[in-house]
Amino acid sequence: STYQVGYFVGSLSSTSINRILSRALINLAPPDLAFTEIPIGNLPLYSPDFDADYPPEARALKDAIAASDAVLFITPEYNRSIPGALKNAIDWASRPWGQNSFDHVPAGVIGASIGQIGTAVAQQSLRGVLSFCNARQMTAPEAYIYFNPDVYVDGQVTDEATADFLRGYLTEFRDHVERVLTVLPRNT
Ligand code: FNR
Repeated sequence: STYQVGYFVGSLSSTSINRILSRALINLAPPDLAFTEIPIGNLPLYSPDFDADYPPEARALKDAIAASDAVLFITPEYNRSIPGALKNAIDWASRPWGQNSFDHVPAGVIGASIGQIGTAVAQQSLRGVLSFCNARQMTAPEAYIYFNPDVYVDGQVTDEATADFLRGYLTEFRDHVERVLTVLPRNT
């Protein structure tokens, strides 16, 4: 069977290196992973005042997660944490109380940075948030990507070692999703 992966790009930048990484990941993924982006850039700032009546963008967000077998976060590090836009999207999806969209959902975390730390600190922050949201995270392998622009060309990865690493990450993610769904089937 094919697993539907809803992916979040944590950046709103039109030149996002994490979006470039997302394209490379899609091209390197095992054939039984199908990817759909879950957009976060059109969401208002979350407030509990919306809980009684979510706006269409927030309903679409929750519907998109519900339609996914798993979620994948591809995010930059902003000031040693995750970007506010991504946290805002997670807050929307986690509410209203009792309707947390991430409950038991298989999840993966990856990110690219122009710095050598490779989003490691942001990913630890994101993992804390996803733990509270009760997502079933793949905890290994980790993927802290230093972004070398020469390596990512037209959605392809030109460096074989990097391509191998990303392929391995995705194969492990696929296996993780399969294991979680065996115990915790989704409604799809
Ligand atoms: C950054 N950047 C950054 N990089 C990093 O490794 N650790 C950090 O804490 C930060 N902090 C940070 C804050 C803000 C507000 C910006 C705009 C940038 C640099 C960051 O890695 C670089 O801008 C990437 O290109 C961001 O990823 P996207 O948006 O290109 O996907």
